Amino acid sequence: MKRIAVLTSGGDAPGMNAAIRAVVEQALHHGIEVYGVYYGFKGLVEGNMRMLGVNDVSKNIKLGGTFLYSARYPEFKEEAIQKIAIKQMERQQIDGLIVIGGDGSFQGALSLTKLGFPAIGIPGTIDNDIPATEYTIGFDSAVSVALDAIDKISDTASSHNRTFVVEVMGRHAGDIAIWAGVASGADAILIPESDYNLEDIVESVEKGRRSGKDYSLIILAEGVESVEDFVEDYKKLAPHQEVRGIALSHIQRGGSPTARDRVFATLMGARAVDMLLDGKEGIYLGIRNEQLATFDIVQALQSKEHTVRADLIQLNKTLTQR
Ligand code: ADP
Ligand code: F6P
Repeated sequence: MKRIAVLTSGGDAPGMNAAIRAVVEQALHHGIEVYGVYYGFKGLVEGNMRMLGVNDVSKNIKLGGTFLYSARYPEFKEEAIQKIAIKQMERQQIDGLIVIGGDGSFQGALSLTKLGFPAIGIPGTIDNDIPATEYTIGFDSAVSVALDAIDKISDTASSHNRTFVVEVMGRHAGDIAIWAGVASGADAILIPESDYNLEDIVESVEKGRRSGKDYSLIILAEGVESVEDFVEDYKKLAPHQEVRGIALSHIQRGGSPTARDRVFATLMGARAVDMLLDGKEGIYLGIRNEQLATFDIVQALQSKEHTVRADLIQLNKTLTQR
């Protein structure tokens, strides 16, 4: 293998640039060249790529977003389109591809491998919703941004004795809500993986107030319902509380990656290059017990093994239900 390519796909996540940087530096260390593909699979099909050098990546380890840009490109599900992407890579004498993205992007990587083109995945999504791995690049940064915002909101909540409902990201996964909720001592954490009872939530908030808390926080994952709808229903059951709702939205996807995101992104980027050089394909990297691990894309995506930290939710309930 003399030349490989790297792309970012799906929603951007802080730490993607750190992963690209590690791919480039590790490839150069092994004496092979790296092409950066712009705009994910769309750019791959259009041949929108160029060779990357140390200068392109050395300062990027601290930058949020992805300097290779990202795109959603549903056309990539078609085999004829995938074959064009392979032709484009063959034209540039590229022998292997590293895909940084979520489970949708991994399906794209897998489809290339099935057509005989080696591809490896690196999990990059703030939602932390990829099966098997305990961690995805961007999750730690997103939680840290959410927590910082929640801490600020709690100053006002406390000063005015209000209840704030904070909507955090997570379309299908409650991980950001759980971590930001436990870290902020929230009165309730609502996630898409479990049902909730509104009366119980109101009761638990009121108990907290009776026991001396001067404000209340409810953390709502976006996949449950919109904060506007939730607040409307909540107010009907809690007319005596002063309630405000806020959606943190895309600020959670931006900003400089945390040290943890940078370090794991670096480990994964470098290992992905080694994997391609070892002739591996159809796999993705991840973290188990703080160590790098590899997973089979087909098996992991079929098993949908990702589970949320129910122990943390339980602990939060115990600590907040007086
Ligand atoms: P994420 O990677 O964050 O899950 P998406 O689900 O939007 O984000 O997927 C990103 C891109 O991956 C899609 O726009 C498409 O180009 C590609 N992709 C998604 N699903 C498939 C699939 N089944 N086969 C081939 N490519 C896919
Ligand atoms: O998958 C990451 C994520 O940020 C989700 O939490 C959110 O629902 C989605 O992407 C929003 O994507 P977009 O900004 O592309 O609409």
